[in-house]
Amino acid sequence: MKKLIALMAALLLLPVVAFAISAELKLEPAPINLDDKVSLQRGVQLFVNNCMGCHSAKYVRYERMADDLGIPHDVALKNLVFTTDKIGDPMLAAMPHDLAKKWFGTAPPDLSLAARVRGADWVYGYLTGFYADEKRPFKFNNHVFPDVGMPHVLQHLEASVSKEEFKSQMADLTNFMVYMAEPIRAERERLGFWVLGFIIILGIPVYFLNREYWKDVH
Ligand code: HEC
Repeated sequence: MKKLIALMAALLLLPVVAFAISAELKLEPAPINLDDKVSLQRGVQLFVNNCMGCHSAKYVRYERMADDLGIPHDVALKNLVFTTDKIGDPMLAAMPHDLAKKWFGTAPPDLSLAARVRGADWVYGYLTGFYADEKRPFKFNNHVFPDVGMPHVLQHLEASVSKEEFKSQMADLTNFMVYMAEPIRAERERLGFWVLGFIIILGIPVYFLNREYWKDVH
């Protein structure tokens, strides 16, 4: 029971920790928008093409992701699903975990919840934060994750487009990772709006009814 309470407390504190980290690193706010389906579609494309060689997102199934992002199943299967032929499968990495650990010193972690644990601003800062450093084995270091074990896998992209374009693509990728960490978020926010509206509208007759009931009580 004590362990459970400690776990709950830790989970509740996660956003606080993420906030504290952002404040300390002076991270730029990630320009994300979960209602922007086109940005999410660009984000998932970047993710499957550049990240899933090493990273999995095992809590996400292709089918749910395709439905949420408005991508027809046949299009998803053809363009986004490389390690399986079943749309209902979870998004698993192409690389075996133990080999990856041998090559990079650290196994690439599952990224399903990364944006939730680290915060969107951290992820955006990380993706845009690689810089050349001769002392590192892969010749790159990272501003928000010093001495990171991950190579700068988007080096070719960063070198081939303008700075603004690269940042905009990293915003799309971050947007997708935020969606992935909480697929229900956009829906929850929409629902919250209607629930609050309902409560306010219901409040009006309730207020008058209350006045009516108590009118003659002195
Ligand atoms: C070549 C393999 C490889 C590829 C490809 C790769 N990564 Fe990584 N990534 C790693 C490794 C290894 C680590 C662990 C680094 C460490 O702990 O020092 C890591 C760590 C991370 C982390 C930090 C996780 C955490 O919270 O500690 C994030 C976020 C991340 N990767 C995102 C991405 C994204 C997004 C892409 C695609 C653009 C990507 N990675 C592509 C190998 C890879």
